[in-house]
Amino acid sequence: MRCLWLWLLPLPCAGLLCPSTCAAQDGTPWPCRFPSCQLPVTHNPARGTPQDINVVVLSPYSGELGDLMTTAEPLLEMALQEIENSTLLPGYRLNVLLADSKCTREDATAAAVEAFYSGDPKHAILGDACSDGCEAVSDVSRFFKVLQVSPGCGSTSLSERSRYPYLARLAPSDRFKLQAIFEVMKMFSFKRVSLMYQSNENLALFQDLVQRDVEAGYAWITLLTERIVSISDAERATAAIQTRDSRITVLSLNEEAGAMLLCQAYLKGMVSPDFVWLLSSGNWGQNFPERANHPHINCTAPQLLAAARGLIAAELGPMLQSSSVHGLSGRPLADIHSQYAAQCQSFGNGTGRCNFIWTPYFYDGLWQLANVFHSHLSASSQLTGDAAQEALYNISLQQDYLGLSGQVRYFDSEAMHKVGAGDRDGTILLRQVVGPLGDEFQELAYWTGQGITWKADIVWGDQRVACSGGSCNLTGAVVPLDRGTCAAGRIFVDALGCQACPTGRFEEAGQCVNCPAGSFAASPGLASCEPCPAGSAVNFAGAEVCEVCTEGHYQNETGALSCLRCPVSFYGPSRSLPSCLPCPEGKTTAYEGAIDVQMCTCNGDIFEGVCISCSDDFRFVEGQCIACVEGLRCRTGETPR
Ligand SMILES: *[C@@H]1O[C@H](CO)[C@@H](O)[C@H](O)[C@H]1NC(C)=O
Ligand SMILES: *[C@@H]1O[C@H](CO)[C@@H](O)[C@H](O)[C@H]1NC(C)=O
Ligand SMILES: *[C@@H]1O[C@H](CO)[C@@H](O)[C@H](O)[C@H]1NC(C)=O
Ligand SMILES: *[C@@H]1O[C@H](CO)[C@@H](O)[C@H](O)[C@H]1NC(C)=O
Ligand SMILES: *[C@@H]1O[C@H](CO)[C@@H](O)[C@H](O)[C@H]1NC(C)=O
Ligand SMILES: *[C@@H]1O[C@H](CO)[C@@H](O)[C@H](O)[C@H]1NC(C)=O
Repeated sequence: MRCLWLWLLPLPCAGLLCPSTCAAQDGTPWPCRFPSCQLPVTHNPARGTPQDINVVVLSPYSGELGDLMTTAEPLLEMALQEIENSTLLPGYRLNVLLADSKCTREDATAAAVEAFYSGDPKHAILGDACSDGCEAVSDVSRFFKVLQVSPGCGSTSLSERSRYPYLARLAPSDRFKLQAIFEVMKMFSFKRVSLMYQSNENLALFQDLVQRDVEAGYAWITLLTERIVSISDAERATAAIQTRDSRITVLSLNEEAGAMLLCQAYLKGMVSPDFVWLLSSGNWGQNFPERANHPHINCTAPQLLAAARGLIAAELGPMLQSSSVHGLSGRPLADIHSQYAAQCQSFGNGTGRCNFIWTPYFYDGLWQLANVFHSHLSASSQLTGDAAQEALYNISLQQDYLGLSGQVRYFDSEAMHKVGAGDRDGTILLRQVVGPLGDEFQELAYWTGQGITWKADIVWGDQRVACSGGSCNLTGAVVPLDRGTCAAGRIFVDALGCQACPTGRFEEAGQCVNCPAGSFAASPGLASCEPCPAGSAVNFAGAEVCEVCTEGHYQNETGALSCLRCPVSFYGPSRSLPSCLPCPEGKTTAYEGAIDVQMCTCNGDIFEGVCISCSDDFRFVEGQCIACVEGLRCRTGETPR
């Protein structure tokens, strides 16, 4: 075994390319199916003495995705034998070597390089399943100038032709999963949405799809885009979701970050049907609440499940099981499906794990490699090298067949639908969390570029939308809304949620309007204004406070527009009076609006201590007011009667 140094990356001296123990359904280790890391094949005598085409299948037996390879092996074995038995590749024989990428860049690089430098020459890679690994494997395949087809890898950055010039992937990129989620949201006319994401790539993708729709006239309102990597992020984000009244949230989060968010949502009582969660990427598996049950996430698995109930997740394509025939192998899809179901389970003495979501790409991938080589070899005998790699890639992009994972058809231009080169059209599986712990996800629908085929009813809390007939019956269906109803005194603002009406205004029929003159609103969030109390008044609309009556003024009524002057023989000695005080007995004022008792005077004559004031045309004579009649001497200016 050689130790290699490639691009200054120290590589471990690996032994076998694949492990000796593989995982059963419950994770128990069992001896792997193929301890030699080579798929067995019963030779087809018709091939005579063929030339070898050696394919390295590189995907994880361990790591982030778990033991994916063990679940895929039955389909690889099946496809390899079918290819051997077929008339494809006359004069050649496909051999398959199994290697563990462990789902990391370093391990995938090491395993790929190890595979190429040991044993017979290799001619193609079917790998990796994780995006990091795919990037690494793509570099290795360029270095060795061989054909690469990947059975996984959702990252949209892999669509960049200049960076990954020869990558044809079978798993749809995250863009298609998000597109499926957008289609579901649009079906329910959701407009106000938020995104919780981990990578900037997912944020950019979300913004790109929003912009695409906005330009086409669909008025998305993006309320929040929050990056979730810690519990405090999750706490802050869920609080913001409440403040902004964001009901529809797209999650581009892995299981752990998703659990952080859902736990906080659970603690705040944010559950279905009031809140709708849509998972666009992250590969959450069955049993995710248990696996995400991290010591520092304060929720139990049942609590996480309660928060996740109703969540709709876009996943890789499902393994189809119709009676249609596989475009390359010629077998009915249902046959392949049922043979796989039996073989995946038989591992570990009947405790094997099956995976009906991811593994179809392995079957399609091996067949596609065979088909591409077949087309290529009819015109050339070069299996590797610059020209062969480019020619093989060109043929890959022309593939168009019904696969076990749906229609396989490549987009060959970055301009086409703004998707990258090497991305395929295909089927996206939509699942919904409706089941018990350990069996949370139920198949909900299949999405393709042509639309959505529904398989089950959508269930959000106590609301159910009838969809099992293939399409959803929205007539009369009660569906969640993308906004709540506001309490009295609060109005709805699209971008902000329920907002309290400010001071001076009150809420009327969903609008904040000015308090009418004579009334006021001293605090925000009022459903009605208060009339000005007696002793105060205001003569304009929109008052936060009423103006108190000044000295010499009063107001005995509430809700008044203005204060009144104290009448004659009254005075107002202080502010905000509901009534004026009368002048002391025997005194009066000569005018309105007196402010002081001193202003109460006798404006007539004092007779035995009493103030007597005679009105016009009368005159005071010894305590009496006498009419000024003809013959008497009236005061100056008086007109005698
Ligand atoms: C391949 O051919 C052999 C010999 O004809 C046969 O026994 C076997 O069942 C075939 N396998 C498949 C998968 O077609
Ligand atoms: C988890 O719960 C413990 C005990 O109730 C509490 O002290 C701690 O702050 C909680 N952590 C989080 C992240 O909520
Ligand atoms: C496999 O299952 C059979 C029948 O249930 C049992 O007798 C046998 O001991 C099992 N083998 C192992 C290794 O557990
Ligand atoms: C592959 O396709 C590209 C773009 O269509 C073309 O320029 C190139 O000549 C092709 N290469 C081969 C080897 O067919
Ligand atoms: C759709 O639902 C409505 C209300 O429940 C019902 O009246 C109608 O018949 C349904 N339409 C179909 C096509 O099932
Ligand atoms: C206020 O004064 C006016 C005039 O004197 C009177 O008609 C009215 O009833 C009074 N209102 C109250 C509430 O006392």
